Amino acid sequence: MTDPLVIQKCGTCHIADAKGNLTRISAIRTTPEGWEEAIKRMVRLNGLQLSPDEARKVLRSLSDSHGLAPEEATPVEYFAERRMIDEKIIPDPDVQHACASCHAFAKPMSWRRNPSDWDLLKNMHMAFFPSIEGSFRRGGFGARQEAVAPGAETPKQPVDIALAYIKKSAPLITPEWSNWTAMMETPNLPGTWLISGELPGKGKFYGEMKIEEKANQDGYTTHTQLTFTSGSQWSSDGSSLVYTGYAWRGRTQGSSNIAGIDAPNGVRQVMMLSKDQAELSGRWFWGTYQEFGMDITMRRAKSSPAVLGTDLTALKAGSTDNTVRIFGSHLPASLAASDIKLGSGVTVSKIVSATPEIVTVLASVDPKALAGRRPVSVGDSTIPGAFAVYDHMDYLKVTPETGIAHLGSEPHAKGYMQFEAVAYSNGPDGKPNTADDIYLGPVPASWKLEEFVASYGDDDLEFVGKLDAKTGFFVPSTDGPNPKRKSMRNNYGDVWTVATYTPPGAAAPLVGRSYFIVAVPQYMQWDQPEVGQ
Ligand code: HEC
Ligand code: HEC
Repeated sequence: MTDPLVIQKCGTCHIADAKGNLTRISAIRTTPEGWEEAIKRMVRLNGLQLSPDEARKVLRSLSDSHGLAPEEATPVEYFAERRMIDEKIIPDPDVQHACASCHAFAKPMSWRRNPSDWDLLKNMHMAFFPSIEGSFRRGGFGARQEAVAPGAETPKQPVDIALAYIKKSAPLITPEWSNWTAMMETPNLPGTWLISGELPGKGKFYGEMKIEEKANQDGYTTHTQLTFTSGSQWSSDGSSLVYTGYAWRGRTQGSSNIAGIDAPNGVRQVMMLSKDQAELSGRWFWGTYQEFGMDITMRRAKSSPAVLGTDLTALKAGSTDNTVRIFGSHLPASLAASDIKLGSGVTVSKIVSATPEIVTVLASVDPKALAGRRPVSVGDSTIPGAFAVYDHMDYLKVTPETGIAHLGSEPHAKGYMQFEAVAYSNGPDGKPNTADDIYLGPVPASWKLEEFVASYGDDDLEFVGKLDAKTGFFVPSTDGPNPKRKSMRNNYGDVWTVATYTPPGAAAPLVGRSYFIVAVPQYMQWDQPEVGQ
């Protein structure tokens, strides 16, 4: 550790050894959010004193000197992006029990430590949360030790299994980090960036961000302009910082003509910069539970024509004269139908209109065209896999696949949920839920809730809240004891969210459903790392 401010602020308790390594701190690497959480606890519990400006500087310095390599951050990026997903990185039920019953497993996997520091983390948990015995040990707090046959080895406890796994998978020293520290540099981001993305429930959008550098390497100011393919607009001003050479963290406040509770408001940005510094991608999110968010990809603007994408997600084989809008920048004014390519089996018959940002064409699909993804090209610029061609819509997936909303009233704001019904084609193997399935994008389904029968006389359906039949937007009920409910219970519950959609020309509707929990408010929010600009 060489930063004088870190040594001055942290070194009083975390003493340096002969090599200048501070106890604990030098044995740890983590994301900006991880450092922020640790620093906040030092202030809250351990008496660290720090001005906001010093905290920002320490956070930046530690994230740069003891961060994660991009390859290490990628598998847990959903955690910083606050995505609501079923975690796939948990190796087995013991590890889940020990380390993913209070927070996501991505929390430990956002840290790298040497083995003794992983043991100290375990001790910290046991000291702070004595009831953790219930997660760490089989049988839980106060339970009798399981009987072990004479001569047999005592079975390992979940916490031991978890720590062995974590020590092996998240060590302090890795080739990824050595490589990244050697190549890490302050990225050169100022200029115009082209944006494409999607907001669940509101569809695709395109636009641009202008990035300017602040004085004294203090990050960037940003100005963003987005146009949804539905016609809505959003523009915003913000500022951001890049940690560890690639981790964009920003905030932006905007105005839009998008109506509703879910309109973007106080948006936070978490993105990763690609190694060639040509692309930034991630999620911009808002809402009390960060339940609203856009998926974003930004590419550096060039002076030559660039395609960003199209307004559609899928075209049916054999369909004719489909209106396709192609979004881009500096698109040529004079275009022939032959300048536009939509992949094999898709023919552009006419250019309806053309501006530098949007070209509208009519396209037809050969009835025998093979199902699969197709590019969109205008001149030399191509976006691969921009939409799909399909012959049959086979099933619907309702996302989020396991959703959670929160009841609310003063002073706890509600946590909402926007569902989407996403159509898929089974792909060449003809089987659903396999790797070759073809994503066909969200479809305008109709929505309802159904009881998830978990107990006799289960009546959650009547109390949890309202799902809009057209939009799939869920508004939870108020929280607090409900005199109308048996035992004055709160309005919580678990239900099925059901989407029904009949594809054009199909005889029978497709039905998809997902399990959905409506919980009480999160009365205690353990950590809300807000790594700002
Ligand atoms: C006043 C004393 C004090 C100061 C100053 C202090 N710490 Fe700590 N730190 C502690 C103590 C005590 C612990 C062990 C208990 C705990 O984990 O909270 C600790 C533990 C830690 C840990 C390990 C937590 C874990 O997850 O296992 C980290 C990381 C850390 N400190 C970072 C810092 C940083 C960074 C600074 C300076 C910005 C700092 N500390 C300043 C007292 C201090
Ligand atoms: C009883 C609930 C609970 C369980 C079980 C649990 N944690 Fe935590 N963990 C927490 C809470 C709460 C925090 C936030 C502490 C704070 O900053 O005040 C936390 C913080 C952390 C952090 C951030 C460290 C820091 O300095 O803030 C890591 C890493 C972590 N846990 C790893 C683990 C691992 C590994 C396991 C399994 C061995 C585990 N957790 C099991 C509740 C739990």
